[in-house]
Amino acid sequence: MQTLVVDHPLVAHKLTTLRDVRTDSPTFRRLADELVTLLAYEATRDVRVTDVTVDTPLAPAHGVRLARPAPLVVPILRAGLGMLDGMTRLLPTAEVGFLGMIRDESTLKAQTYATRLPEDLSGRQCYVLDPMLATGGTLAAAVHFLFDRGAEDVTAICLLAAPEGLAHLDEAFQGIGKPIRVVTAALDERLNENGYIVPGLGDAGDRLYGVV
Ligand code: URA
Repeated sequence: MQTLVVDHPLVAHKLTTLRDVRTDSPTFRRLADELVTLLAYEATRDVRVTDVTVDTPLAPAHGVRLARPAPLVVPILRAGLGMLDGMTRLLPTAEVGFLGMIRDESTLKAQTYATRLPEDLSGRQCYVLDPMLATGGTLAAAVHFLFDRGAEDVTAICLLAAPEGLAHLDEAFQGIGKPIRVVTAALDERLNENGYIVPGLGDAGDRLYGVV
């Protein structure tokens, strides 16, 4: 597994305001959206393209277009939904599938409660959106789900990651023979006893949407 912590002053600036407990929900939503677009720029470095020729007003020119089949973007509900617009801004022709997963707060294990994805993901590049890579249980379950349907490679975009989550993914996908990448704005210190990332930014879903 490959991990990329995006080192850029604009990423650090937006993340700092996201972390701030005084940041209200509308500001949090806007900044998360902007931050995802910056992360998406790095995360799509390996997106597949095909060579084309276009006619400029003067002469033919070599160029590229996104290859078919289109990449699949998969936000993990609920909090991943807050990352979708930021991602599709860069990849407007991507298809979007949905995975509803919830973490059982007593066992910290992921349970799937909704899926809306193509049955056959053969040859597809997939981008999973999950703001907080904490224990890694939810993300590992999502990646397994996509690989089981034939996905070619999976890139996860996370606002924040914990070392425990990265270690979990490393172990879960050792020797699987398919590329997995995690792109994040920061690698934080640790998880607390409730499975929250420290220092983190709190509950991403609650901060995006208000406590439900
Ligand atoms: N989910 C969150 O929203 N925040 C954390 O810190 C961990 C998991």
